[in-house]
Amino acid sequence: MVFLNGKFLPLEDAKVPVLDRGFIFGDGVYELVPVYARVPFRLDEHLARLERSLGETRIRNPYTRAQWRDIIFRLVDEQPYEDQGVYFQVTRGVAKRDHAFPKNVEPTVFMMANPLVNPPREQVEKGAAAVSAQDYRWQRCDIKSISLIGNCLLRQLSAESEAVETILFRDGKLTEASASNVFAVKHGVILCPAKDRLILPGITYDVIAELARANAMPIEFRDVLEAEVRAADELWVSSSSKEVLAIVELDGKRIGEGVPGPAFRRMYQLYQDFKRTVMRSGKREAVSA
Ligand SMILES: Cc1ncc(COP(=O)(O)O)c(C=O)c1O
Repeated sequence: MVFLNGKFLPLEDAKVPVLDRGFIFGDGVYELVPVYARVPFRLDEHLARLERSLGETRIRNPYTRAQWRDIIFRLVDEQPYEDQGVYFQVTRGVAKRDHAFPKNVEPTVFMMANPLVNPPREQVEKGAAAVSAQDYRWQRCDIKSISLIGNCLLRQLSAESEAVETILFRDGKLTEASASNVFAVKHGVILCPAKDRLILPGITYDVIAELARANAMPIEFRDVLEAEVRAADELWVSSSSKEVLAIVELDGKRIGEGVPGPAFRRMYQLYQDFKRTVMRSGKREAVSA
């Protein structure tokens, strides 16, 4: 079952008119919430980010926080699997094609829950390869927009090299990757770009930052130069589905020792422990690190 504009229905029956501005202009925003043992992880943070994306794009938010939560819980409960990725998007709605905003239009809301696919065990243990590219996306990467053609083109570069991600640099500095945030580690210090308009404020990024602080792992939010990334002892990517994953090869060259490093192994364990705490609480409420 999926959710479309107030109704739960089979995926095959979920249809959107071709004049939907999501289809015509990519005029919409989205979220993806990981769900472990039917407990959505950091749901309020994801809903806060959705509200922000809607505000920044001036798309009317059709539901209150409580209504969003109820729909998500119902969708999660409808699925046969325990761990899920709940995807939801809101577009500006259906209207005659014209770039300017239509008046009196109802936003289109679509939600689906798929089985959650985390990186396989072997990849977590051995690390993964990435390639790099210039970040030529727009200047509002902080908005979780469904207009993802830049991200898709950039991700395809790594897909064609059988790598898991494309790590992006803008003006000689690290931004993020095509669908994840990026952290470098040098001499035991975790380095990551501060939040600005050029990166998506990742929910996993925040969890990693909280876990680092709570466990006395030094972390710095600052510009990270391309040269620092290439010379890092460790490189990680983070996202709701990848969680935290070590990158051990960039553009065919080894990062550090070419294996997941000690800081990664510690953070991975902290992340798994934190997830278990959230799951065990069984609560669909906020839990902090
Ligand atoms: C461009 C980009 N950056 C970062 C992230 C990580 O965000 P989160 O940790 O909230 O999944 C994503 C996730 O899809 C993304 O698409």
